[in-house]
Amino acid sequence: MLKLGVLASGRGSNFQSIIDEIEAGSLNASISLLITDNPDAYAIERAKKQSIKHLYLNPHDFKSKNDFYTRIAKELVKRDVDLVILAGFMRIVGKPLIEAFPNRIINIHPALLPAFPGLHSQKQAVDYGVRVSGCTVHFVDEGMDTGPIIIQAAVVVSPDDTEDTLSERILRLEHKIFPYAIRLYSEGRLYADGRTIKIKGYELKDEFFINPPIHR
Ligand code: GAR
Repeated sequence: MLKLGVLASGRGSNFQSIIDEIEAGSLNASISLLITDNPDAYAIERAKKQSIKHLYLNPHDFKSKNDFYTRIAKELVKRDVDLVILAGFMRIVGKPLIEAFPNRIINIHPALLPAFPGLHSQKQAVDYGVRVSGCTVHFVDEGMDTGPIIIQAAVVVSPDDTEDTLSERILRLEHKIFPYAIRLYSEGRLYADGRTIKIKGYELKDEFFINPPIHR
């Protein structure tokens, strides 16, 4: 069974969606550890409810960014984590963690990358006036939201959308595609061809989910 290590900074609704899929039996994985960089992250409450081990690490307690990520990597390795999940982790991951888990860290981003990387992507999308946005699950490399894309889902953006209304609609899709991407990984269906991620048994109709037909 795939052992997951989750990093989160806040609310943790994506973390919850993974917990729920595991509970429902549609994701054959277990969560070994939640690490947060924020002592007030609601994700911690979610972990407690499920008796998932959790650890708060204050980045300011470390001499350098590298030391912080070396420690995170150590904690994850100690618990035999197979795949690291960034579920609303609001930092750029440092090299020591990427080197400890090459091609084994995945992130959810609330935009259709490569559009609107970084913070406040939904606001960036509204301000730019795009008519379609969405979310992306991708492998993490050393850049900011630049790693190979696993899966994307799209929502139509209305001219009346605000950052809040768009965020909410995108979030609903995030909760579907993130566990789905982890499932694809757990089933050994992802492989890299250059920076393109190929998916074994993939059907094209899975690609664009305005009303995501994921759980068929
Ligand atoms: C989600 O929308 C996630 O895509 C985004 O933060 C939110 C976390 O919500 N992540 C990023 O912007 C990463 N750059 P959650 O804590 O409820 O899962």
